[in-house]
Amino acid sequence: MIHGGDIVTYRQRSGRRAEDILDCSANINPLGVPASVTEALRAALPAVGHYPDPQQRETKAILAARFGVAPETILCANGAAEAIDLLTRSIRPKRCLILDPAFAEYEMAALRNACPLVRIPMVFDPGRGDFPWGSIDAMAREGDLLWINNPHNPLGIGQPFGVWSSHLTELMERGVQVVVDESFLDFLSHDSSWTAMHHVAGMAHLSVIRSATKVFAMPGVRFGFAIVAPSLAEAIERTRDPWSVNSLAQAAAVAAYQDTGYLEQTHRWLEQELDFVTGTWGRTGLLCGDTPVTPYLLARFPDHEVAQRATRVLEGEGIFIRDCTSFRGLDGAHRRIALKRREDNERVWRLVESAL
Ligand SMILES: Cc1ncc(COP(=O)(O)O)c(C=O)c1O
Repeated sequence: MIHGGDIVTYRQRSGRRAEDILDCSANINPLGVPASVTEALRAALPAVGHYPDPQQRETKAILAARFGVAPETILCANGAAEAIDLLTRSIRPKRCLILDPAFAEYEMAALRNACPLVRIPMVFDPGRGDFPWGSIDAMAREGDLLWINNPHNPLGIGQPFGVWSSHLTELMERGVQVVVDESFLDFLSHDSSWTAMHHVAGMAHLSVIRSATKVFAMPGVRFGFAIVAPSLAEAIERTRDPWSVNSLAQAAAVAAYQDTGYLEQTHRWLEQELDFVTGTWGRTGLLCGDTPVTPYLLARFPDHEVAQRATRVLEGEGIFIRDCTSFRGLDGAHRRIALKRREDNERVWRLVESAL
């Protein structure tokens, strides 16, 4: 399995109804779909009788206002996953540099586009605080595309863009393209000081990706976007499927990105749950590194048997977590666990403790 969130399989495997399953294998905001989005989807239903706006004009206007970027730099997509594919296809890199462990779609997009891969291990243990700049500098060549995921899935680490941007300047002078995948950044209250988005205008080889599916709990609707150089946006728009961002996804995005109240609530929720993680997982040495900054944690159990036992105990209660064996550099002892509301996090923790 290379992605979590496979609710149909979990239903079949457990014999439970979807509402009786706690899916901690995908990192979806447990506050649920914002009421503003549900309303917008309802109101947009009659629009499905027309083609969606292929230029996503209203959506881009909202995103431009929300993030302070120019509309011509915005590339809307059917989830961040489509943005990953579109960028790989259009940049046509000589090679893709992937920092392992990594979200699987960077590799999939490279394979679909017959692009050779260079794999660089993340330095994540002990300390696991930084991207492996020494190895990146040594490996990167003109025409390469480097994928940086900040905050990182599955490691849960993250840093403000300013901390490492000087490394990118040097790489870009060498003709290396860089995409920063910020699919989890909206979960953080300091999002605007961490993002690379505002540097795209000044750094010709930089692109940034965002996802609405996790933070607004709408993975079934599919919306993501990228901030790219206007010339790249134009080149991509010329040759892509013009309707991949459907009317419902556009309406949902318009509502979601204006819902600042929901985001503030999300930030408060995450801060509180990360405190809970520090006081529970953090005390036992089960956390793979320091407390994460993300709505999920990466655990490393003493060995794969303990990890399997914990997984079985959880599944017995209808709770599914992410096996990490498909992530290069991780193994059978690792599990990624999405954070939920407090009572669920407590339940997961109690069950895990009982399996140790
Ligand atoms: C790092 C990262 N980027 C992108 C995505 C894809 O997100 P979306 O659902 O918007 O396609 C994911 C999904 O898990 C992810 O973990």
